Amino acid sequence: MKRTHSLTASFVISLSSLLACGAAPDGTEDPSSAELGSSEQELTLGSASVSTVSKTSTALIGKPPIVVIKQPPIIWVPLATGDLVLDGVMRYYGGGTATLGLQINVSNIGDSPATAASGMVSINGTVLTGALYQYYGGTATTPNTVNPGQRGYIKVEVPTAMMAPCTPYTVKIDLGHTMQYGDASVFNNDTSIVTTVCPLTWTTPIGAVHLGHQPDVTVAGKKLGDIVSSVVSGRPDGALCSSCHNAGSSYPYHPNVPANAAQTIDPFLNISGNESWACSSNTWASQFIYLPVAKYPHTEFLKEVVAKWRDDGALR
Ligand code: HEC
Repeated sequence: MKRTHSLTASFVISLSSLLACGAAPDGTEDPSSAELGSSEQELTLGSASVSTVSKTSTALIGKPPIVVIKQPPIIWVPLATGDLVLDGVMRYYGGGTATLGLQINVSNIGDSPATAASGMVSINGTVLTGALYQYYGGTATTPNTVNPGQRGYIKVEVPTAMMAPCTPYTVKIDLGHTMQYGDASVFNNDTSIVTTVCPLTWTTPIGAVHLGHQPDVTVAGKKLGDIVSSVVSGRPDGALCSSCHNAGSSYPYHPNVPANAAQTIDPFLNISGNESWACSSNTWASQFIYLPVAKYPHTEFLKEVVAKWRDDGALR
């Protein structure tokens, strides 16, 4: 989408007077404000203002008046930009069909919304058509729009055979220059190596490449196994799992660990009866994901991590 910016001369002049007011120290005559503000010679504020030269005109009596056409001052006003950049991660959904829905993560680093109901991307040279969407929590009210400073994704259908997990691809967005606008620089940052999301194991430091987005600070770089084993906290309040779930607690999940202590919890070993995190019929993982955050003190960030680990095969 292109936007043109037209400024009337009167707007330009009042803007420049304002700027000059702000810039000139007390008692100092700013030459540009003097020219614009005190000009009794100014006749109009149209696209060009017309001035008569009064001081010299006495010497020119009998001659035709000299008319000077003043051009409005040129003021640099930055162009509005909608500038999408790749986030380095993409994920896909589906299976058993000829195509997969691929979400290519982008951020709008421009200063204005980017809107694209349709646009072209290439994945390892294969050109595909898709549309732009904002992520959950985005503030755009227009469909297919990502507001400045916010994240979204371009969704395309890709041939299933093209995609493999945890694999880097060369991705170029907005081949047709329909998804962004501004000066040429918005189109100069459209190519990148983008990796499909990788499996998350019990011992992988949690990163964007596993979740498909930047992890929350409460879990970023930590291992799920360390969080569950109360080696580190995965919570904003810094509490360990063992502060609530310990040998003395009456919750169904009460590992045999003193309150606030760390203890290695292997995902394949039964805890508090005949359930484990990974392989019982009703796993601790599925109960943890199932409990609503509004009622139970676990975060959505951690539930997302546990769900990703389980969906990736609950690997040690
Ligand atoms: C502030 C206290 C608190 C902390 C910290 C906490 N939980 Fe819980 N957890 C609860 C409560 C309350 C329930 C619901 C208990 C019930 O079923 O009545 C629960 C439920 C669970 C369940 C489902 C089984 C059960 O006992 O109900 C699992 C599994 C679980 N938590 C694991 C964890 C893990 C792993 C951590 C650390 C990442 C953690 N919890 C941190 C309070 C806590």
